[in-house]
Amino acid sequence: MSLHRLLGLHTTVPDPDALSAFYRELGLSGDATQGFTGSDGGAAVTVDEGPFRRLGSVSIGCSDQHDLDAITSRLAQGGATVTQGDGQIAVVDPATQVRFAVSVAPVRPAQAPTAPVAPNRPGSVVRADRRAPAVFGSPRPPRRLGHLVVGTPDLAATVSLLTDGLGFKVSDTVPGIIAFLRCSTDHHNLAVVESPVPLLQHYSWECDDIDHVGHTATALYRQDPERHVWGMGRHFAGSNFYWYLRDPAGSFVELYSDLDQILDDEEWERSGRTEFAFEHVANSWGPNLPLEFIVPDDLDDLQRGWEGRR
Ligand SMILES: [Fe+2]
Repeated sequence: MSLHRLLGLHTTVPDPDALSAFYRELGLSGDATQGFTGSDGGAAVTVDEGPFRRLGSVSIGCSDQHDLDAITSRLAQGGATVTQGDGQIAVVDPATQVRFAVSVAPVRPAQAPTAPVAPNRPGSVVRADRRAPAVFGSPRPPRRLGHLVVGTPDLAATVSLLTDGLGFKVSDTVPGIIAFLRCSTDHHNLAVVESPVPLLQHYSWECDDIDHVGHTATALYRQDPERHVWGMGRHFAGSNFYWYLRDPAGSFVELYSDLDQILDDEEWERSGRTEFAFEHVANSWGPNLPLEFIVPDDLDDLQRGWEGRR
């Protein structure tokens, strides 16, 4: 795989200080300029001020100069305008105005594994005479930024740019609605969803397990119940546990664990279900998909923001 990791995203919002304060409450390290990261470092979120919430750019790492040359060639063949400089190539997606930049980057360091905790189950008592350690848990920083979802008014065009041009691989699709793409072994690092306006639909932080998701999301939720959006549940696409909250700018922040990992592309194609129907798009189990997940509550503001740019 020439692409091998997500390096980060850049967003502009009306109140960057409020967003930064939320990230510190979530436990992230860093700052708006250098980027906020989880406890494992890696992909970072940088923030600037802008008139409305907007995804400005996405950075992706590839292996070497040969990869950059190949990506540049494919993009040019597709009619895209490619800029080069500072060791990176970049292309702006006409449908979303998101700038996708690719640079040579070291392979993501291996994450320290989490010690498995076996649960009591019918016929299998592995924890006798004591409470589950998880009930004594507390919120803690997520491990890393794992993926983001880009809303686009032209799903086919944006997906084509990312796959045919940049080289993302397709893990799953719901035709006409959403495509789950990867640039690493994660089931998805970037998903593209049909949307009335371009937007950062959500971005997602990996946690150790379902209790890590629960403790960390609960603390944010109890501090401000208006933050709760959707969860706890388990997605069909990617298989991950999820809980979505709203950041101060209005974008959704997902905490997740237990995402599918694709180490062998052909094996995934054989065993996975790569194209599925709408009823599976939301989840395998959990609360119903909230309407604002499809039509954001601040759609009017976003539309005015985009019209103001023209
Ligand atoms: Fe997600």
